Amino acid sequence: MSTNRVSLKQVRKLDERIFPELLKRNCTLSCQNGKSQKNKRISINALYDNNRGFWLNDSTDWSYFVPLEMIESIVEDLKLKDLEREKRLTINEAHIEYIMNREYSTLVKVGREDRIHALSGALNQINRVINSRGVSLKEKTDVLLEVSSYSYLVNKITLDEVAELTDEDAGKVTMKLARLTEKIINSMTKVLNEDIKENTFLLSLVEKSNGVTLRHMVRTFILSYRFVLFFNHEITKNSLASHMRAKFNESFRHWYSSLLPHIPLEDLTLENVFKGGMRAIPEKDLNVYSAGFLLHDIGKQRYIDYYEGDEDYDSRKVEAHAKTGHRMLLQKRVYSEEIAAIAGYHHEYYGHESGYGYYRELCSLVNLDKKYLRQDSCISYNLKDLHRFSTLSFLPAKFLEIVDVYDAITDPGRSYKSHLDAFDALKFMREEFIVRNKKIDPILFELFVRFLQKD
Ligand SMILES: [Fe+2]
Ligand SMILES: [Fe+2]
Repeated sequence: MSTNRVSLKQVRKLDERIFPELLKRNCTLSCQNGKSQKNKRISINALYDNNRGFWLNDSTDWSYFVPLEMIESIVEDLKLKDLEREKRLTINEAHIEYIMNREYSTLVKVGREDRIHALSGALNQINRVINSRGVSLKEKTDVLLEVSSYSYLVNKITLDEVAELTDEDAGKVTMKLARLTEKIINSMTKVLNEDIKENTFLLSLVEKSNGVTLRHMVRTFILSYRFVLFFNHEITKNSLASHMRAKFNESFRHWYSSLLPHIPLEDLTLENVFKGGMRAIPEKDLNVYSAGFLLHDIGKQRYIDYYEGDEDYDSRKVEAHAKTGHRMLLQKRVYSEEIAAIAGYHHEYYGHESGYGYYRELCSLVNLDKKYLRQDSCISYNLKDLHRFSTLSFLPAKFLEIVDVYDAITDPGRSYKSHLDAFDALKFMREEFIVRNKKIDPILFELFVRFLQKD
């Protein structure tokens, strides 16, 4: 008899979705009293209504049994549902890639001039949002998403093409493109300066943006920019620098000491971390930062499969994108050195072995001749300090590194690993990128955690 039935205790171990199904089918349970050996049959819903936890606790008196047939049919249904879900997900993934490649392919065919013309249209679109009153948050989000992903795509395609043009032609095309993109970014940041509820805004971004790479560009751009605004706000309104200075010795000094080993521990201060001290970022630099944020992964290849799948993962190809992006943005002097540097140095990770980019390579080359090369700060606001090798990193790239990693591990569109929720992502980043390895900046990270929690 026991082979034709399954105890509820076993059901609990099988699959947590089975019990709700039993309720739906109002299954009749066989109940057996362990003491009196009495048997009775009773509906599962009656037992459940009487005590919702009856099936979770091992009663010493009663054991409950479900017909094996019913369990088999439920398991079969669940399997089918899983299959369908998997199919839907696969279709979805394929669809996402299709959108990215389709948009790229369509735009490649559109003449260069027309593409730039459409970009002016995008600028008008965003300016209309700024100038008209009563535009809803939904409309703003839509326009921001559309305009930023379009700007990214047009830049990507045009810069890919520029490599084949003469310097003169390239100069003409890219000059227009770059100035227009800068104007668009300027207008987009005006919209982003407004008081937007962070969580609502980010959620709708995740929902609406499509295409893994495009979504990553847009989200990273917006999130990084808002993070920098928060940084400025905390400095000017909440005395962030004094707070950090007060806790520096206890909370951070040891952490930074191995990055600047030639400075005696007792002499290390917050001013050694942020060269010239922590201060707000001037407005003129905010636009430069934003352009760098939007274009940071421009060096990624068009077909992005190897960013998304474990099997074809080719670390050389992945690592090349920072340097390629740096070159593309500087080529024919399309964008400023600062913008190119943000793209070029966003995976340096304070020189950690898993990081990559030009800076460490140049450092090691310089070190060959000049054995005593020593950086006297961890982060500088000034790119020239990086070129003089007197600092370890450029401030906007350190902001971007944090947001970039955060976006990669929380993005539900990534198919190869399940994404983490905000809490687990921050926990993971603290453990892997700060405690175990010195990769992202711990002071900026502390601020980032507060930035995400502020809503
Ligand atoms: Fe990247
Ligand atoms: Fe990225």
